[in-house]
Formats: sequence, structure tokens, C-alpha cells
Amino acid sequence: MKSIKVGILGLGTVGGGTANVLQRNADEISRRAGRNIEVIMASVRDLARPRLCDCSSLTLTTDPFEVVNNPDVDIVVELIGGETLAKELMLLAIDNGKHVVTANKALIALHGNEIFAAAQEQGVSVLFESAVAGGISIIKSIREGLAGNRIELVAGIINGTGNFILTEMRDKGRPFEDVLAEAQALGYAEADPTFDVEGIDAAHKLTILASIAFGIPLQFDKVYTEGITDLSLTDVDYAEQLGYRIKHLGVAKASKDGIEMRVHPTLIPAKRLIANVDGVMNAVMVRGDAVGNTLHYGAGAGAEPTASAVVADIVDVARTITADPHNRVPHLAFQPDALIDLPV
Ligand code: HSE
Repeated sequence: MKSIKVGILGLGTVGGGTANVLQRNADEISRRAGRNIEVIMASVRDLARPRLCDCSSLTLTTDPFEVVNNPDVDIVVELIGGETLAKELMLLAIDNGKHVVTANKALIALHGNEIFAAAQEQGVSVLFESAVAGGISIIKSIREGLAGNRIELVAGIINGTGNFILTEMRDKGRPFEDVLAEAQALGYAEADPTFDVEGIDAAHKLTILASIAFGIPLQFDKVYTEGITDLSLTDVDYAEQLGYRIKHLGVAKASKDGIEMRVHPTLIPAKRLIANVDGVMNAVMVRGDAVGNTLHYGAGAGAEPTASAVVADIVDVARTITADPHNRVPHLAFQPDALIDLPV
């Protein structure tokens, strides 16, 4: 059977991580997808730059339009970030009949309504699991696992950089700027880190979560947005002394008057689970009328946690393309002899 061919726009932190995960776990991934998945091409800004992945088998180009216009590419994975060029490339990819996977939360939050309409028109998929809460799979959880619920509340820590900063301030008394510089060096922060610390990144993600959870259009401009830049070591210390932790939360809540969306620092009693989500980790609580409270936890940023969600979307699209009626049961035993016989 023909392999499914992927073209990646951007081979930075997440792009490199995606190429690595696809290569390292190729056997498992192809069995789950029902076909081999092959990255054939990627666009980069600078051909000479050292890469996070072994990309010797792919064609590299500095022209992203070559990827989007390549007739052999089935799935375009957009990882360049930003709005203008990314939007143009994505709409062109859709117009060319390609499926799209993206980690670009700003693009989805601000232009998703238009992008989804174009994809509907063309009959292609646009998936963006990696845009929210790194590797947690919160979008799939809400859309699939909680599909039978009326969602009442979505609330959580959805910016890893901000949580890393608050944790280091509390545990080590480190100054804000110092920790932010480390988050940038570790590849957690946005290209423009004010998006992290001013709450804009969290507001993009909350816009997407609220849209999925409550079935509303994406409305970034309706999110009350406050960041963590006004917090000092003294604030963090006082909270601790009073038995609280300061966490930067995104909250989307249904009430009889409508859906409210807000992003801001919050005092949380130190014993609560979410108060103990530290470092770059994210956690999202979702409350449904049938299931009650659920808590979803995992790494919120970084190359491979984010790549994990990008690859999951690629597999998801591949399954749709393959549409193999024998591949619709989640259980797929491809290592039948892997169990260890323990003495009983
Ligand atoms: N800058 C983002 C964060 C990256 O720190 O959460 C993952 O979306």
C-alpha cells in the first residue's frame, strides 16, 4: 500500500521533535495508522543551521510554497508559527486538497473560523491537538472521550512557560527575568515571550478549548486577559505563607447568561491538585454533567511532548485517508509475544 507523505513547514524545536518521533517510532505509528508515514520534505529558514533531527533523507527547501504545492504531499504540518505567512500557506494547502496539521494556536484562535470553513469546502482535515497543552491530548479528550457530556467548565494551567516561572520563583526565589531566559533557552517560550507572560498564549489556547467544549465560534477578543508580569517574589511568598499558591489559569465557564472566558493569576489553596502542578507541566480540569470532574495532566511545552500531539494528529488524518474498516477498533495487537511470563 502506498505510504502517506508528509511535508513539514519549519524544522525548529517542534518540527525537529516531530521528525524524530516519526522516525524513532515508525513501526508502532505505521501499524496504528494503517500505512507507512513518510516525511518527504521540509521547509527551513536556513539550510546551514544544525538540526535537532537526522533529516538527511528529506528534501529541504527554504521556500515553504514548494512544500505546499508539492503534488506528492498528502499532509502539510505547519510549524512555522506566526499569523500572516502561516495563514497564507495553510489556506493554499487546503485549496490544493491537502490535509493540515498545525501547532499554531494564534492562527487557529484568530483565523480558525475562516480556515475551518475552507477545509469543510474542500473536504480536508485541519487538526491542531498540539496547539493546546502540549502532549496532553485535551482536544481529543473533550471531542471524543467527553462527547456525551454537556460541558460546564474548562479550567487549567495552559501555559508551560508561565507555570515554570511561577514555580521557580516560589521554590528557588529566582527572579522573573532569569527564569524566563531559561524557559527561552529550553525551547518552552514563544518566539515573542510576551505572549507567554502577558497571558496572550493562554488566551489563544482558551479560545480554542472553549470553542471545542461549548460548540461556540472562536472568539479570542472575548477573553479577559491578564498575565503574570505584575507578580513579584513578595506576592508569591505571601501566597505561600497564607497556604495558597499563585497559578496562572485559563477558565471557560457556562452560566445561564452565556460562556465566560478569562485568563489571569489565581490564588489556589496549596492542597488542591492543580496547585501542585509545577514546572512546565500543564493541567486542565473539565467538568461534564455526566462524568463530573476530570483532570488531564502532562507536559505543556517542549519538543517531544508537543511532537507527540502533532504525530497523533498525523495518525488521525492517516486513518481517515486509509478508512480501513478493519482498523476501527482501538485495540491493535501488533506485539503479541511481548508479554513477560511472571510466576503466578
Ligand atoms: N510557549 C508555550 C508554553 C508553548 O509555554 O506553554 C506551548 O504551547
